[in-house]
Amino acid sequence: MCGIVGYCGKKIQLKKIIDKLKKLEYRGYDSAGITSIKNNTITTIKQVGKIDNLLSNIPGNLHTTCAISHTRWATHGKATHTNAHPHSSSKEQWTIVHNGIIENYQELYDKLKTKPASDTDTAILSQYLEENCNDNIESFITAFKNIKGSYAIVCINKNNNDSLYIAKKNSPLYISQAYGEIWVASDPISLPLEYDYLYEMLDNEFAYISDSNISFYDNNINIVDKKHININESFEETNLNKYPHFMIKEIEEEQSAIEKQIQFYKDKCILKEYNYDFIKNYENIKLIGCGTAYHAGLVGARFIEKLVGIKCTVEIASEYIYKEPILDTNKTLFIFISQSGETADTLRALEIVKSKGFNYISLTNVLYSSIARKSKHILPTIAGPEIAVASTKAFVCQLTTLYMFASHIHNVLEGTFIDYEKDLREVAKKILSFNKEKLDIIAKSIYQSPTAIFLGKDIDYIVAMEASLKLKEVSYINSTSYPSGELKHGFLALVEDGTPLIIFATGSDIQISKTLNATQESIARGAKEIIITNRYEYSKHNDNSIYIDSLNPLLAPILSIAPMQYLAYKVSILKGINPDQPRNLAKSVTVE
Ligand code: AGP
Repeated sequence: MCGIVGYCGKKIQLKKIIDKLKKLEYRGYDSAGITSIKNNTITTIKQVGKIDNLLSNIPGNLHTTCAISHTRWATHGKATHTNAHPHSSSKEQWTIVHNGIIENYQELYDKLKTKPASDTDTAILSQYLEENCNDNIESFITAFKNIKGSYAIVCINKNNNDSLYIAKKNSPLYISQAYGEIWVASDPISLPLEYDYLYEMLDNEFAYISDSNISFYDNNINIVDKKHININESFEETNLNKYPHFMIKEIEEEQSAIEKQIQFYKDKCILKEYNYDFIKNYENIKLIGCGTAYHAGLVGARFIEKLVGIKCTVEIASEYIYKEPILDTNKTLFIFISQSGETADTLRALEIVKSKGFNYISLTNVLYSSIARKSKHILPTIAGPEIAVASTKAFVCQLTTLYMFASHIHNVLEGTFIDYEKDLREVAKKILSFNKEKLDIIAKSIYQSPTAIFLGKDIDYIVAMEASLKLKEVSYINSTSYPSGELKHGFLALVEDGTPLIIFATGSDIQISKTLNATQESIARGAKEIIITNRYEYSKHNDNSIYIDSLNPLLAPILSIAPMQYLAYKVSILKGINPDQPRNLAKSVTVE
């Protein structure tokens, strides 16, 4: 987690570096800090809270030729000033910013002569360097032989002005070079738009930047002749435009995102490689992701099973890592789903699967991400940058992609034709046509409730899970989701007068009737029923119902999640929460 921006070059304002750091706020916003060096003097400024707090404490006339900056998502130690990065060692020989986790921090701490005041693993590492290596890069690399964990690290050394020392393992780090300026960042999105060369640091690589030169090393101190890379992505500015928050902007972009997605796949013939020879031997498909991406996998598994008939299982990445499933390498295909392409658990699961020789496809929104770079087969989502922590348009694009993939495989194997482009263009047209006025009123009626329950059967239950996650994330309401039949087996005990009961009713008649029956015991105990349905008869005279116009039951999830994202947004606003950056969370979870 966390974001890093480092700079070495011509004299610039400190504020300019922090402006770049702001683009990484999606990686965490518990505290931020910057250290610069001039004439062997270290100056550090840190603030708890968002980067704007730091910016407002930095005078415009402060300039630097070498600095490291950091925005933090607290893992070890609370979000305090002492725990904010950068961390200097006791004699200030080393000042470092770090993303990741030093796993053997306790072992390192026990060996330290001077114990740092900060609770962070990073402060321990900084002190460890001071006590165990001198100022040259060779000694720095050797010290890392004793460091276990994941890290993207950028350091300033007090005795070397205008120099940066860099180490990387299992956490992304990029370096851009232009005449007279070198930038380092944990995501290329925060690098300058114009540069001559761009380098991606690989695991167990080190770099030493001095003035305008970069030297790369492996962990045996051999010089690496590193090739620069191209990223075919334009990092255009993502602005709010007329919107007050990214979350609502991103919900409003869902129609165009689906349309772009369909067009992109058509123009680039993305699905062509998944032909008969590719798919013919697979008897199992495993879909893996975390959070919202896991929910997309659950829906995607329904698409594949219903349209193709191949058995699917869906796994939460952090759980899958520790499973030892008995699977035939030739008969099992994996699909990894990740908006950011950087989620550590998903990446780790992918590495395990890859090392065992399985074939896999990655479905991601970021084509230069670690997951994309480790994948031969990619199903891109064309959602565009998603800034709000709560995933909305990316989820919709994940479902769109999985529907296209499943339909395409159906067309390849079955010989009958599903016109998925037509199906999805209709969905795109309808996705934003839900009744916002009704949802505004519903939001007002539920925002003060401490709990909320989301219910459904089969595919509706999956939407209930995702809708519940969305509300929880941005409103802090203790929301939960249940298969409707399970309600009476325990959760009913928590239902009180006014508890919102949000019911998804888009499946078969029998499923809907069973779901509605199951909720009667709750309604009898005062629960406030809200129905999301594609049946006009349930919605026409009901102020607490939201109609979705879905003829294809498999595609109902795309249409029923959109109003729930909107509801979560509205509740968040009513509670005075910033939905783009809810407490304790970060957009990209790059630690296991
Ligand atoms: C979604 O609203 C969440 N912020 C979270 O569950 C997210 O989907 C999860 O962390 C996975 O992220 P990824 O898609 O970038 O891998």
